Formats: sequence, structure tokens, C-alpha cells
Amino acid sequence: MGESEPPRSEVNPRFRSDVAPRPTNSESLDDAMERVLRSGTDETYCFLNEGQVKANVEFFKDNFLPGDPHGALLYAMKANSHPRIMQLMVEAGIDGFDCASRHENEQVLALEGMEAGNVHFNNPVKKSSHLVNAFSHGVSYYTAQSKSGVEKILVEQTRSQLKDLIVAVRLKTFNKDAKINLSSKFGCSPTKAVSLIKRIRSAGAKAGLAMHTGSQNLNPYSYAQGIELMKQVAEKVGGVSSANLGGGYPVPYGPTDHFDIWEYLRQVNETMEEAKAVIFGKYAEEARILMELGRVLVANAVDLAMPVLEMDENCEDGKKEVYVGDGTYHSFSDRWIHDWPYYYHVYTGDGRKPSKTMARYKLWGQTCDSRDELGEHNLPADLREGDFVCVKNAGAYMDSQRSGFNGFIDGPIYVSYNV
Ligand SMILES: Cc1ncc(COP(=O)(O)O)c(C=O)c1O
Repeated sequence: MGESEPPRSEVNPRFRSDVAPRPTNSESLDDAMERVLRSGTDETYCFLNEGQVKANVEFFKDNFLPGDPHGALLYAMKANSHPRIMQLMVEAGIDGFDCASRHENEQVLALEGMEAGNVHFNNPVKKSSHLVNAFSHGVSYYTAQSKSGVEKILVEQTRSQLKDLIVAVRLKTFNKDAKINLSSKFGCSPTKAVSLIKRIRSAGAKAGLAMHTGSQNLNPYSYAQGIELMKQVAEKVGGVSSANLGGGYPVPYGPTDHFDIWEYLRQVNETMEEAKAVIFGKYAEEARILMELGRVLVANAVDLAMPVLEMDENCEDGKKEVYVGDGTYHSFSDRWIHDWPYYYHVYTGDGRKPSKTMARYKLWGQTCDSRDELGEHNLPADLREGDFVCVKNAGAYMDSQRSGFNGFIDGPIYVSYNV
């Protein structure tokens, strides 16, 4: 960091990581769970499969626009910015990060090997103070969707005299098949995009286009529709310098979720190949094609294990009730909104084999709010305090969206294995 640069904020202090003993590179999830969960602890743990994070990045780097030097894979760090995960992304060769705030920008800048060119300040809504900070670090890639958003960026460019600024204009896409429809809030019409691009160029900056077809997107064909929209806008402005295809690739949360990730990649690769001459036009040489994945790069690398704190029978209907050390104010904030069918299973705290006979339990979280409930589930009939209720594919958005409600401010403890 140069002397004139402003101080960077601390990495979020709530992130906790496992201490000794250190895992070996061959340690399995079972070994790691046995090492940690049979110690009488009542903490919540995130078991982090380090090899899986790297494999995810490598898979998408190999298969997103294979052989095209203009393609770049970014990690949407909002999905999980635990320092170890961020470091693993860099080690695996990620090309950069999609950031939403000053704190995220600075977390990337503090990573070894990362610099301003790896930061993409792509939250279309920004605080002016965060923009001032980003320009002072030399960040040159931004996304906007409104006239005032573009103007705020251009004012900062004039003040800082930053060269090679790119402002990507986010387009509204239309896709009913995403669990989180980001276009209800984000993106502008093609007509507005054309006028924003003209304004960006009039200030001497480069213009790009951006889209996001929605998170946990169940429709691979929606990418082709979004790219088509980009093509229509690009045609009217003689091409653009970058195209950001967003994220959205889905992850299986329950036993009935089945997705063909190859079909998503095929749609993106083939449509982009066909559209790129029009999208980039005379900017083809300098073109950048970004994909900024969050969920799919990290979800399957984490298994969450939350302790059974207490159990009882409801005095009104006799139903078995279980209180766990997590809940909807913490790792399961999405449950209220999307009701994804998390698939719970049990790891026993005392080493016994869980009973094959199942019973129906009502699961509750740890806070003193009755909305903190996790639904009814079949779990082993001999479930007891000290056991752990576990969830697979828990690496994305679960930790990053937790609140500190009721004073439960400590995040889960991350335990690495398969390093
Ligand atoms: C601008 C932007 N890029 C990327 C992502 C990552 O999306 P996903 O986690 O669905 O891949 C999001 C998610 O909200 C986003 O808002």
C-alpha cells in the first residue's frame, strides 16, 4: 500500500477459524467431524473442503469460454468472504472479485497478489464515500444502472483523474425461474442503457454492459435471453468494451434438486461465441467477458454442523421439539424468504451409530423469537443433546447473511479439511 492511500478497514473480526490440530491433505469430512464434534463442544461449525473450493474454480476456469483469452472468472464474494475462502480463490487462480462495498473492496486489496485491477465494484447502488475510497485505491471497474449512479462515478473520475475507467451498465433481465429475482431491483431498460452508455463515453470513459439472470437460477436458457438483450443494446452504440454475464448457477440444497451445470455453460459459451462480434464491435481487441459466480463456487465446499442444545415434547400436541445452536437469524435467513428444502442429517456427538428408526421433529433456532423455526423433519429417533444437525452445500450466503440478533454475534467456527 502506498503512503498516500487511506487506511484499510480490518478484515471482519467475527470470522472464526479452527485452531490445532491441523488437518492433513488427505483428511476426509468424517475424520474432520470426528476430530472436532466429539469433544463435547456446543459451537456451530463450518467444515470447509479446501480442495473442493479449488476444484470449483478450476472447473469454471476450464469450461467458461475455453481457450478465449477475453474471458475472466470473478468470485462474487458476498456469497462467503471468510478470509480462508478468499485466499483459496486466489490460490486457485480466480481472475478477480465482484465487490459490493468499501469493506469488500479493501478485503480484496489486502490479499496477497491482488490489486485494484482485480476489484470490480459491481453493486449498482453505491455510497459516495465508498466510491471516493475505491477511486483512491485506483479501482477502475464499476457497474451502474441509473443516471445519478453514473454521474456519481464520473464526478469521482474527474476529481481523481483516474485513467481507463470502465462503467458497465446493468440491464434488467426477465426470468421467472430464479429463486431470487434480482431484476425486480436491478437493471435498466435497453433505451436507458443506450443513453447511459453515451453519457459514459462523453466523459472519456469506456462503457460495458452487465446482467444477472437471478440467483439460484433454474433456467439455463435465461442466459441466452440476457445475452440477446446485450446484443440489441450494443448494436445501437457500436459495441462495448466489456460484458458481465453475472452469476446465478444453482446448487442442490435438497434431495429433489437436480441441475445440469453443463447445460448452463453450454448456453453461455455458445450464445456468447455467436453474439460477441456484435456485442464488442470495434472494441473486440480489448473486450472483456466476465462471469461473476458466487453460490456455485463455494456452496458445496461447506458442511454446516449445528449442535442440539435442548429437546422437549410440546405440552400441547406432544410433538418432539429440538432447539439447535443456529437458526433463521443466523445461517438460515434465506429459509424465511425462499423456504429452500434444506436436507438435514445427524452426526452423533458421542460416537454411537444413529438409530435407523426415524421420528418427526420440529426444529427451532437459538434465539428468543418464535419465527426462528426451521420446519419439521425426520431425524433419528434417538437424537439427543450433544448431537449435531448437519446441512450439506452450506457454503454460500448462509454465513454471510447472518445477523447478530440476540447477541449471538460469533460466526460459526471454520474447520478446514482436504487442504
Ligand atoms: C451483481 C451480482 N453479481 C454476482 C452475484 C452472484 O450471484 P450467484 O451467487 O447467484 O452466483 C450477485 C448475487 O446477488 C450479484 O448481485
